[in-house]
Amino acid sequence: MTRKIGILGGTGPEGSGLAARWAAAGEHVVVGSRDANRAAETAKLLRARLGSNTKMESADNPAVVGQCEVVVLTVPFTGQAALLKQLKPYWRPGQILIDTTVPLAAAVGGAPSRMLGVWQGSAAQLARELVPESVAVAAAFHNVSAELLAQTGSIDCDILVCSDDDLAKRVATELAEKLPGARAVNGGKLENARIVESITALLIGLNIRYKAHSVGIRFTGLPL
Ligand SMILES: NC(=O)c1ccc[n+]([C@@H]2O[C@H](COP(=O)([O-])OP(=O)(O)OC[C@H]3O[C@@H](n4cnc5c(N)ncnc54)[C@H](OP(=O)(O)O)[C@@H]3O)[C@@H](O)[C@H]2O)c1
Repeated sequence: MTRKIGILGGTGPEGSGLAARWAAAGEHVVVGSRDANRAAETAKLLRARLGSNTKMESADNPAVVGQCEVVVLTVPFTGQAALLKQLKPYWRPGQILIDTTVPLAAAVGGAPSRMLGVWQGSAAQLARELVPESVAVAAAFHNVSAELLAQTGSIDCDILVCSDDDLAKRVATELAEKLPGARAVNGGKLENARIVESITALLIGLNIRYKAHSVGIRFTGLPL
């Protein structure tokens, strides 16, 4: 049986971009939303673009958690905690949560190139607190712009993957490498997500200063 990858908030640019790329790579994807109809509409649009053989379904967010082995969280920081609290009863042991949330100051009316302080250290560590301990958490995809995902070409960037769990790190790494052109880089423990999340604010600032759209990062000197 093929695994299902569920995307909470899969109707937004980041979630639908990842959904399209993974479905194009042959993965079975379930687009999630607070509203099942909105999820269905996004999945329909993506299937129309990718072809009818695409393994793309849709469901509301609780049903996504109820049926997917791997769940990717792509909602704004302002909605992250409340959504994870609402979804807590739906998780099963052994599932994997991959968090992409960036706590940008823009969430509370600040600059998009600044970060909010999160008591736990990062949005990913906040997510770790809000799902059952039997669910493994990884943080990844923060530095991949939705604009790049929406295009069909190669994704020219490194993707840092942070986790305290070997399997979650391996699965997030595998999914990162399903994005053509992207390279997954082991970012260490989940606590390093605070550094990785903040790189996104820097990238947004670079986009603004250089009038670019999808600045990314590449590490040199790695034996990969
Ligand atoms: N955009 C990028 O380039 C980019 C790059 C890297 C990382 N990220 C991160 O990825 C996440 C999603 O980014 P995005 O640009 O796709 O965000 P978005 O368009 O603002 O939101 C994505 C989806 O989240 C759901 N949502 C919105 N508010 C919510 C709330 N209060 N509670 C629960 N769900 C809510 C909505 O889906 P429904 O209304 O259908 O439920 C929406 O379509 C963010 O945390 C962002 O920091 C984004």
